[in-house]
Amino acid sequence: MALSPAFLDELRARTPLPALIGRKVRLARSGRQLKGCCPFHGEKTPSFYVYDDHFHCFGCGAHGDAISFVMQSQGAGFAEAVEQLAAEAGLQVPKPSPAAAEAERRRLDVQGVLQAAQAVFERRLFQPEGRAALDYLLGRGLSEATIRRFGLGWSGEGRGSLAAELGREGIEAAMLAEAGLVRPAEEPGRFNDLFFNRVMFPIRDRRGRVISFGGRTLGAGQPKYVNGPETAVFSKRRTLFGADMAREAARGGAPVIVVEGYMDVIALHQAGFAGAVAPLGTALTEEQLGELWNLTPAPILCFDGDAAGGRAAHRAAELALPKLAPDRTLRFAPLPSGEDPDTVVHRKGAPAFQALLDAARPLSEALFDLLREGGALDLPEQRAAFRARLEAAALRIPDKALASEYRRALLDKFFAGRRSAIPKRGAPRSAAIRPTPPRAALNGEDAAAERGRILVAILLRHPDLLHDVGHAFSDLTLAAPFERLRHALFGWSDHADVLDSPALMDHLTSVGLAAEAARALASEPFPLPACAAPDAMPAEAEAGWWHIFGLVHRGRLEEEVAAASRAFAERADEAAQRRLIALCAARDAVRRVEQEEAEA
Ligand code: UTP
Ligand code: MN
Repeated sequence: MALSPAFLDELRARTPLPALIGRKVRLARSGRQLKGCCPFHGEKTPSFYVYDDHFHCFGCGAHGDAISFVMQSQGAGFAEAVEQLAAEAGLQVPKPSPAAAEAERRRLDVQGVLQAAQAVFERRLFQPEGRAALDYLLGRGLSEATIRRFGLGWSGEGRGSLAAELGREGIEAAMLAEAGLVRPAEEPGRFNDLFFNRVMFPIRDRRGRVISFGGRTLGAGQPKYVNGPETAVFSKRRTLFGADMAREAARGGAPVIVVEGYMDVIALHQAGFAGAVAPLGTALTEEQLGELWNLTPAPILCFDGDAAGGRAAHRAAELALPKLAPDRTLRFAPLPSGEDPDTVVHRKGAPAFQALLDAARPLSEALFDLLREGGALDLPEQRAAFRARLEAAALRIPDKALASEYRRALLDKFFAGRRSAIPKRGAPRSAAIRPTPPRAALNGEDAAAERGRILVAILLRHPDLLHDVGHAFSDLTLAAPFERLRHALFGWSDHADVLDSPALMDHLTSVGLAAEAARALASEPFPLPACAAPDAMPAEAEAGWWHIFGLVHRGRLEEEVAAASRAFAERADEAAQRRLIALCAARDAVRRVEQEEAEA
């Protein structure tokens, strides 16, 4: 039946999916979607999601729109399902237009031609003319069962032999051209074979119908592979080689694995990894990514461990970010360099490949390294640029909660890396933050005074931190000279246009506090920690500030938060609220820094 896309769209638009499916399945809201127990396989915990325009089961992979729901749940044919939904929606199913009928006929014809060609190629592989090709495939470790399973074939030598053979079945050369098997020659009415002297790899759609071919030379000839052109049934960017088998495998719970080549898919399949698919010699496209997510929420990208593989992974991650959702993500399992999945399973065996899969990293972890691209992070400029890239990446995730999780994870890693990656100033990791020398060298009072000095020093170098730490800062007990500095600092920050350190120093000099400032910044009695250095990154300065503040306040923060919270409950005025918020922020900041320290 050839129906216009416009009619089908209208039909879908008039058939609200939740209502249709809700008749068969109890649905409960889960975020923006509805979910329930899948009607297509027995399950007790719901993994069947219903969206506005499609449904998807993450348990068995069932997927489709309103029409396919009726088809799958009632065993109805397409025409029957459309008739039924149209009747319910009050629509008249239009008689097919001649043009639509013609297009449909051609599509079916093209499919028929491809299927006939596949049968010819496969037969040839097992005849004497295909001997060398068969030996080649067996020599690459494929079993006859695998060769049959993938319908591999031998093209023959060309010179019109395919057209001649299919001509006997009543298939005209023009149809072969439409199917992308031959090309018109310069001489009118004649055609050249696209595939000759090649091992044939049928490319199938997700339902297993042959839609094109890839053909490999037996020897070292170029190009190694020839692929069929775009046709009525074949769109390269929408197709994944192996999708039909991967779909079946994914339903059985196998991981969906994206690899680079035809041979990788086939070798993996034979080794028991039936969820393997490959794009067709190009970088993964948006459409292919969508197709992958139809199969599974977290496909594993298995690219080369080399620079090119890294770029491919990076590109895929970039493609995925704007579409990421809690049930749509990626995993990465880079290969040892110089290997591809085909060589791994042949040389080291299936368990070695399984180990690679087991070590796959979720996007949230891999993204940091992908964005870093091996770039140096020694200079403040490099670090600032990298940090901006991390933030920008998180911002591209539309789901707000998820975006903020990613941002946090990326930045945590960024700051954790700061301490371990750059042991400059010859100091061990945490010395960048901790005042030196260790606390034990000072008595309690001196230590508190020194910490107060450091907190002032950090703010003299990074006055813009006042926005975030101002409240906590105003609560500190400080020695008299620093008390005067604090007073001046607040006075200045109320009026200054930009909170930068040179302007602040000028101001302090002009109000007669140059000596106090010099004392705050001196290397006496102890050198200042790295976070108080003028070239410390803002985030490092901030983390250092909260860390030291936490040391000063030790256990008192919780108490103060509790007290502020009582005060706010009683007075409920703006000042009490501001104080409560500031104290909570201080407590969280201190906890965050301490946790980072503990984890590092
Ligand atoms: P590979 O060269 O890795 O191919 O290219 P492969 O499948 O591992 O093949 P073997 O092991 O050398 O036999 C990866 C994919 O890129 C596409 C094909 O889809 C191939 O599977 N390709 C490669 C082409 O389309 N044309 C080419 O000339 C080469
Ligand atoms: Mn290969």
